[in-house]
Amino acid sequence: MRSSEAPPGAVVEARGLTREFGSFTAVDQVGFEVTGDQVFGLLGPNGAGKTTTIKMLTTLLRPSRGRARVAGFDLEEAPAEVRRHIGYVPQLISADAQVTGYENLWVSAGLYSIPRARRRERVTEALALLGLGGVADQLVKNYSGGMIRRLEIAQALVHRPSVLFLDEPTVGLDPVAREAVWEQIDRLKRTYGTAIVLTTHYMEEADRLCDRIGILHRGQLVAVGAPAELKAQLGKENATLQEVFVHYAGEEVELGGSYRDAGRTRRVAARLE
Ligand SMILES: Nc1ncnc2c1ncn2[C@@H]1O[C@H](COP(=O)(O)OP(=O)(O)O)[C@@H](O)[C@H]1O
Ligand SMILES: [Mg+2]
Repeated sequence: MRSSEAPPGAVVEARGLTREFGSFTAVDQVGFEVTGDQVFGLLGPNGAGKTTTIKMLTTLLRPSRGRARVAGFDLEEAPAEVRRHIGYVPQLISADAQVTGYENLWVSAGLYSIPRARRRERVTEALALLGLGGVADQLVKNYSGGMIRRLEIAQALVHRPSVLFLDEPTVGLDPVAREAVWEQIDRLKRTYGTAIVLTTHYMEEADRLCDRIGILHRGQLVAVGAPAELKAQLGKENATLQEVFVHYAGEEVELGGSYRDAGRTRRVAARLE
């Protein structure tokens, strides 16, 4: 689908990434590039292989086959360097509700081996970046869902990574919180030039946030391009991403909010009590 030459400045270059679980292929020869000033979205329904792809790119899961360079380092040859240069916000909640936002960030700064002398500055910077400066000293259990998500993004940025991976950043958030997270992601890209790779099953999110998207269908990347490009390829006026998906995947899949989201929201809420 794409040439094997990566564009200059690519911060992620994946080639033939494949992951099998027993006889099941969850991710099948996925290849794409992301440049430094982009938000790249992996769009696909539940089970498409989005999380598995992100886990491979963040060194949490070894590919069965294929290669990738992330932030300039080969996944297989230099996984520790990859980890040093990326931030990762997992799909499930990771902040500690019993301490303050500041304390959560302080722990992350330690985890990323930021020298003590610079921790305060980095923590303050990351909190401000996500618009959380004013609530830094409040306990996270009093944060809203959107604030917690922003805190988790701040945690993943405290070491100033060149690539930020976000797995379903707005699942379980109400529309207002979702909008706030979108604004911060936009701002990160514009202000700091952080490359962002996110996954989503919300077409609206992909449309709104992503410079380029890759459509994942049953482990395969069936189309890659800017949302407008992909829609234009259908040769139909006002085509939607849903129509793009049906065109490439050949089937109707419910990509939008579904009953599974409600379940996840409840699980997240339960974990914060
Ligand atoms: N550890 C695992 N063992 C077996 N199957 C898995 C494992 N992780 C994921 N899968 C399967 O791989 C497929 C893709 O999963 P995942 O990457 O989580 O999809 P998505 O994030 O797009 O919802 C699913 O069918 C899932 O059940
Ligand atoms: Mg997932």
